[in-house]
Amino acid sequence: MERIAVYPGSFDPVTNGHIDIIERGLNLFDKIIVAILYNPAKKSMFSVEERKKMLKESLANFDNVEVDSFSGLLVDYARMRNAKAILRGMRAVSDFEYEFQLALMNRRLDKKIQTVFLITGLRWIFISSSIIKDAAKFGGNIDGLVPETVKLHLHKKFRQEAE
Ligand code: COA
Repeated sequence: MERIAVYPGSFDPVTNGHIDIIERGLNLFDKIIVAILYNPAKKSMFSVEERKKMLKESLANFDNVEVDSFSGLLVDYARMRNAKAILRGMRAVSDFEYEFQLALMNRRLDKKIQTVFLITGLRWIFISSSIIKDAAKFGGNIDGLVPETVKLHLHKKFRQEAE
């Protein structure tokens, strides 16, 4: 049976920290579905379609990775996609409480789906999508922190905003 994991998140935008989790996750799973949460309540910089495009371009060299989006409950989506695991990255102790709560709630909702945590690579421990957007907005150097396509999309976005 194929071991499928869902890697959910906002990915607004994807960073090298996320890519690192996906790359290492592929050692554990046959297939990873990167699932963008469609959440109209959360203000995002990029549309779901833009986020999907950036993820697909960043992951073009990876086999066995699919990019999709979902709304509603994560466990319902995982079940629908035949995934037995939810993959999450853990950056620091500050992530723990939220992740713990999320994993326990998801287990209560469906005890057949397991949450698997990977510790984020040390090089990416300090980054988040927000901090990247902040740095890029004020002209900070984000080389090496995000895939090249994300850098181009961010620059384009801020140029449009300035016009
Ligand atoms: N490297 C770098 N940054 C990382 C990272 C990594 N490995 N892992 C997470 N991050 C950052 C993200 O960039 C994001 O940054 P931001 O807050 O600046 O945008 C932040 O950590 C949050 O991560 P994300 O994974 O996008 O979490 P989220 O809280 O937006 O979404 C879901 C989490 C999608 C798993 C959750 O909201 C969900 O499942 N929702 C569906 C409803 C549901 O089923 N809820 C649970 C049961 S009620």
